[in-house]
Amino acid sequence: MLDVGLLELLGEDWQSGPALARRLGVSRQAVHQAAKKLAAEGYPVEHGPLGFRLAPGAPAPQLLIPRLRGRFGRAYRYLGRVESTQDALRAWAEAGAPEGALVLAETQTAGRGRQGRRWESPAGGLYFSLLLRPRAGLGALPLLPLVAGVGLAWGLGVGGLKWPNDLLDPQFNKLAGVLLEAEVLGEEVRHVLLGVGINVEPRGLPPGAVALRRYFPEARRHEVLARVLLALEHALPLVEDKEALADAWRRAALTLGRRVRVKWVGGVLEGLAEDLREDGALVLRLKNGKRKAVTAGDVELVRTEVTR
Ligand code: BTN
Repeated sequence: MLDVGLLELLGEDWQSGPALARRLGVSRQAVHQAAKKLAAEGYPVEHGPLGFRLAPGAPAPQLLIPRLRGRFGRAYRYLGRVESTQDALRAWAEAGAPEGALVLAETQTAGRGRQGRRWESPAGGLYFSLLLRPRAGLGALPLLPLVAGVGLAWGLGVGGLKWPNDLLDPQFNKLAGVLLEAEVLGEEVRHVLLGVGINVEPRGLPPGAVALRRYFPEARRHEVLARVLLALEHALPLVEDKEALADAWRRAALTLGRRVRVKWVGGVLEGLAEDLREDGALVLRLKNGKRKAVTAGDVELVRTEVTR
């Protein structure tokens, strides 16, 4: 497969068509065709007067792997356009992928968000799924969303968390989100697919979303990804220490102490987001003064109007 060979050879510096043709043992025209095919598949291959290159910051394996400091991401599948990286990773997990295996796509045509929502995945973001095989078994599942949120907040270094794991900027626009999907057999957790979407470039983002570039204009995707993977790996042991997890989450939270509206199975609740319980529930102080803990639901910030 010539296009696969070409993708592996490309870097962030321009390489001329003849030089690439020589290295691949094919004609210049074949290199052109392969580059066109890769671009059509969604890979950020650029062509200019100096030849061919990958868009700077592309998270291709040859650019990402040298930047990794931990175990996560060392088994890596880098894709152009897919429906959802969650499905691609599930298939690999069933075929025996190791913990920390990573699938990243440049764009998704059917990216999934929490609560059955769609996750828009325009080119220029980071859309990936990471394979976890938690040793804590079933007990880990309710806490993993919080662990993932903490890891994401540590890795991106801006904004804060809206329960359980949306990363918002200081104006409450969404920078990144997490989706967890687990395969459970009886008491055994076969695997967990930790899906992360990070808005890096502003192009094509839906309303309410904000790009990481607003805060880090020089952000390079492979570096951001390497940092987030390491932070997720460092956050993972928190799943076995509820107290430390709750503390870490509270420190990374943006919505504690604010008025929120929560849609949950029991309806809609409005109140003050007062605390995080150690089992991961969000504790609300309702208007009638009572406290209510919510273990699943969708939180919306209530913007308080100032009337004169
Ligand atoms: C959310 O905030 O609702 C969660 C968004 C999760 C999106 C990521 S992008 C990579 C992975 N593949 C998907 O289809 N979804 C997750």
